[in-house]
Amino acid sequence: MNTRKAAFLVISEIENKKNINADILMEKYHQRLKDPKDRKLFVELVHGVLRFKNLLDYYINFVATKGIKDKKILNILRVATYELIFLDKIPEYATVSEACNLAESVNRHQKGFVNAVLRNMIRRKDEIEKALERIKETNLKDFLSIKLSYPKFLIEYLEQSYGLDKTIRILEFLNTKPLQSVKINTKKISREEFLKKLEAYGYEYDLPELNSEIVYILSGNIKESDLYKEGYFYFQDLASSLIVKWNRNDFENAKSVLDLCAAPGGKTFNCAEVTKGFVVSCDVNRSKVDLLRENLLRLGFDNVIPAECDATVLNEDFIGKFDIVIADLPCTGFGTIRKKPDIKWNKTHEDIESLHELQVRMLDNAAKYVKNGGIIFYSTCTLGHRENEDTVSSFVERHEDFSVVYQKTIFPDEYQCDGFFIAKLKKEGKVGV
Ligand SMILES: C[S@@+](CC[C@H](N)C(=O)[O-])C[C@H]1O[C@@H](n2cnc3c(N)ncnc32)[C@H](O)[C@@H]1O
Repeated sequence: MNTRKAAFLVISEIENKKNINADILMEKYHQRLKDPKDRKLFVELVHGVLRFKNLLDYYINFVATKGIKDKKILNILRVATYELIFLDKIPEYATVSEACNLAESVNRHQKGFVNAVLRNMIRRKDEIEKALERIKETNLKDFLSIKLSYPKFLIEYLEQSYGLDKTIRILEFLNTKPLQSVKINTKKISREEFLKKLEAYGYEYDLPELNSEIVYILSGNIKESDLYKEGYFYFQDLASSLIVKWNRNDFENAKSVLDLCAAPGGKTFNCAEVTKGFVVSCDVNRSKVDLLRENLLRLGFDNVIPAECDATVLNEDFIGKFDIVIADLPCTGFGTIRKKPDIKWNKTHEDIESLHELQVRMLDNAAKYVKNGGIIFYSTCTLGHRENEDTVSSFVERHEDFSVVYQKTIFPDEYQCDGFFIAKLKKEGKVGV
């Protein structure tokens, strides 16, 4: 399959369906491309266009002043514009010619139009950039929304939480490409041995500061290696590994842990590695629970009980049973925009509010599952006060027997990882009573 065709088809599909899983869709097309170079270009183009959609549209609309109604033609132009602005190894003539051929295959009358738009854009590049600078002088938020390519509501929402300068630093970082991050499975292999194996297999790697068991793989597809099959590691972002890392004592001593929304399983695995007790690992999605089961076998954890369970429905069997409840709840996921840039365009202000309400409801159940003296770790992979600090304060207002031990935002620009939020909530009373 043609790489650019795969890219514009995926982008069009993601744009048409709000709740589509972009990763699964990309994987489908990824497999149809055989050459690793094509696969790399495909990911670069899809993520690049989703990352910088507003900026690309600004360039396109500058020259195509009447706008473009045909969505497929628009997406062919976005892919080509991304190449022209960001990819200096592809000659301009090749980009234009590929885009014209694709346009012809979609609608043969549009080939000339696509050619004219792209040639015009190349010729007027300086003029377009100067006009963008003028927007910066007159309306900073409009400029940021175009240049950094985020919906304006999101810029304003994060500004309310963290101020404008911090918001800009966060949004700039979330536009960078993520590194492949893996957590060493210390149940199966020591850190030293794992790093030796990486070297023997020829993988380049880097080590972040906050967790010595997280490794950034800089080259190659490690999922296809024997190291994966052997269960020596699992994929996990640094931020997500910090709950267990920073509270290791609590997890080591817990006899029973409930992971309320567990799939794909990162925190369950962290916990299974250190606890002497057992982990009940729930998710509402059956296929995700099946996948979790497969990973538990691969990783060799025998202290985890996976279960299909809805966290919004009170489970009588869980009441008062757990020393720790991990409530890593559904959220808008703004902290993961590096890996899932489609989140920029498919989440709304209403989603923030409805997810906040869902989180409060799920925490109400979590409160009943934890023993006296036990702990709830509430976390999200999103940024902004409504789903983080506000959810915590709604929770403690409703549950006076809980206190906030600490709450912390992991800012992505400071730690070079996903944006994340952790709150440690302790239930009063003697432990285990
Ligand atoms: C943020 S992810 C959890 C990530 C996981 N804790 C980890 O570390 O890998 C949220 C999960 O919540 C699950 N979920 C959504 N609604 C749920 C519900 N009502 N009950 C249980 N799980 C739910 C989703 O299927 C998704 O896997």
